[in-house]
Amino acid sequence: MNYKEIYNKSIENPEDFWKEQANQLEWYKNPSIILSKDEKEYPLWFADGEINACYLALDKHIQDGFGENIAIIYDSPVTQTVKKFTYNEVKTEVAKLAGGLLSLGLKKGNTAVIYMPMIPQAAFAMLACARIGVTHSVVFGGFAPHELAIRIDDCKPKVILTASSGIEVDRLIAYKPLVDEAIELAEHKPKKVVVLNRKLGARIPFKKYDVDYDALVYGSEETPCVPVEASHPLYVLYTSGTTGKPKGIVRDTGGYATALNYSMQYIYGVKPDEIFWAASDVGWVVGHSFIVYGPLINRNTTILFEGKPIKTPDASTFWRVIAEHKVNVMFTAPTAIRAIKKEDPNGEFIKQYDLSSLRTQFLAGERCDIATLEWYQQHIPIPAIDHWWQTESGWPMIANMMGVEFLPIKPGSAGKAVTGYNIQIFNEKGEELGPNEEGYVVIKLPLPPGTMLDLWKDNARFKSGYLNKFPGYYFSGDGGFKDQDDYIFITGRVDDVINVAGHRLSTAEMEEIVSSHHAVAECAVIGINDELKGQIPLALVVTKSGENMEHFQLQQEVVQLVRQQIGAVASLRDVITVQRLPKTRSGKILRKLMRSIVDGENFQIPSTIDDEEIVNELITNFSTTKIGSFK
Ligand code: COA
Ligand code: AMP
Repeated sequence: MNYKEIYNKSIENPEDFWKEQANQLEWYKNPSIILSKDEKEYPLWFADGEINACYLALDKHIQDGFGENIAIIYDSPVTQTVKKFTYNEVKTEVAKLAGGLLSLGLKKGNTAVIYMPMIPQAAFAMLACARIGVTHSVVFGGFAPHELAIRIDDCKPKVILTASSGIEVDRLIAYKPLVDEAIELAEHKPKKVVVLNRKLGARIPFKKYDVDYDALVYGSEETPCVPVEASHPLYVLYTSGTTGKPKGIVRDTGGYATALNYSMQYIYGVKPDEIFWAASDVGWVVGHSFIVYGPLINRNTTILFEGKPIKTPDASTFWRVIAEHKVNVMFTAPTAIRAIKKEDPNGEFIKQYDLSSLRTQFLAGERCDIATLEWYQQHIPIPAIDHWWQTESGWPMIANMMGVEFLPIKPGSAGKAVTGYNIQIFNEKGEELGPNEEGYVVIKLPLPPGTMLDLWKDNARFKSGYLNKFPGYYFSGDGGFKDQDDYIFITGRVDDVINVAGHRLSTAEMEEIVSSHHAVAECAVIGINDELKGQIPLALVVTKSGENMEHFQLQQEVVQLVRQQIGAVASLRDVITVQRLPKTRSGKILRKLMRSIVDGENFQIPSTIDDEEIVNELITNFSTTKIGSFK
């Protein structure tokens, strides 16, 4: 079947389509109900099926005779380690860890937080939770204790799994003190903290709740997989929303496993036994779907990379990993390619490696700008595929489906709607727009399997954030347009979410933090264009009258505050003091106007502005201030 046929089939008869895909998996109980509604009237896939994601990722392959195949290659330039784990080895460690978690009192229905760097034990911890029906919530290691505490209070883990340290390029980051601080800040107190000592020299302050990871694993028996309902929450993954409180995206098990198995084959075009590398982090959705569960369910070798595209040790790292492990298909963020391009503009490093194993390069996390795409293709002439998805969807929604039919690439577009996603472009009134008209990107319900089930313990926010704006449709929060050939172009977020080096962050959350500084009367944080990171935040602050703090000091303190509360990953470096902020007559801050002025784009002064003179003030202010790492 070509793309058009398979896509139409998935939209016209979703139940038959996804039943066929679900049948590719081994269920404890095959679902007889394919598509129904949950008690909150939201579409639900495979309601009466029973399955286990860890079983599909590990035990199944061992039973099929592939136990000695390599499941995970841990490649860590920061510790100069390469270690390969067979499916048998991973299963043994995961099953013992799962046994250990049971002995700590964890059971099906409980939650566990995983706060770990990019090490194999992070994947083992996820799989061990899945094995016994414990819902995991992985928190990205770049988040500060305050962020970790918010997540602890929301998902109330019985246990936290962590490691002694992570490594950022050349600096050791001790994780355990961060976990202890988060537990102190949080109201909910986990019972145990399982700590893996990486023996890299980090300080591990001892607390009564500590359990040694190695002792737990080696002192425990292997435990079997527990069948769970298809709708059982495999994980909660927090992502930035339009308020200071992150949103806990709830993922089911059966629909997700079906969607991932399908994506590996039909979107990424990867056959079992091939080598797949998603250069991301287990703290993001890409890590969940395409470092851990997707490739393992599809019986691939997955690469777990602890490093950066540059500086670990240099811009050749990606090419070294591809050549050394014979990677067939790779996934990274355009920002990583931009970082490499900046260090090695003529692709000299690329020439030093044999990249003949690499068939396709996938890019996502932010829009792939045309210059980056062209640079990539000039130096590595294989399909470089931009594709669009979100933490909420869990797997791609717009792509060039390489396992179905390779369609011509249109630079700037993420491709066409993936099977199962009926994507439309709406205006504010919910009317569908025609070709090349820009509007809101929405998806007609039901979404296909594997997409978010709910927000953790907050169905009202789920409905108001995603479903109520256009009844019967999922509101993605992105803007975009479709061209005459149904290629979709994503133009960016239409809310207060920004994308910094492929990391999704909330400007509303940063505003809350900046406003908490004693000298700040009010502020706005906006995302502005950045050549390397795509976007970076910029804080505009109005100081309290009578405050005569030096700007330099204020900037330093505000930056420090954001680093302390969110983490360095927020990348806030620029703070500008302004006399006042542009507002509508009803008091709404005109962030889009400020963004356009800073980015040097054409802008229209909204008729509702309370004082037009402020625009000239801002233009003068911005033109005399050095903003951003490249401006
Ligand atoms: N733990 C602790 N700190 C972390 C961290 C982690 N896991 N990840 C990032 N940080 C820190 C960094 O050390 C840096 O701190 P600094 O301001 O003190 O230097 C800060 O957070 C910003 O980090 P980062 O966004 O990674 O910027 P960078 O300048 O170090 O590197 C890139 C730039 C483009 C190379 C890097 O951002 C990158 O590789 N991006 C790709 C991201 C990606 O794969 N995203 C997943 C989507 S698919
Ligand atoms: P996250 O939930 O962290 O994966 O971020 C999802 C958001 O990143 C989307 O809503 C988009 O705004 C942006 N995004 C991800 N991939 C792309 C892409 N290929 N093109 C444009 N924007 C993207």
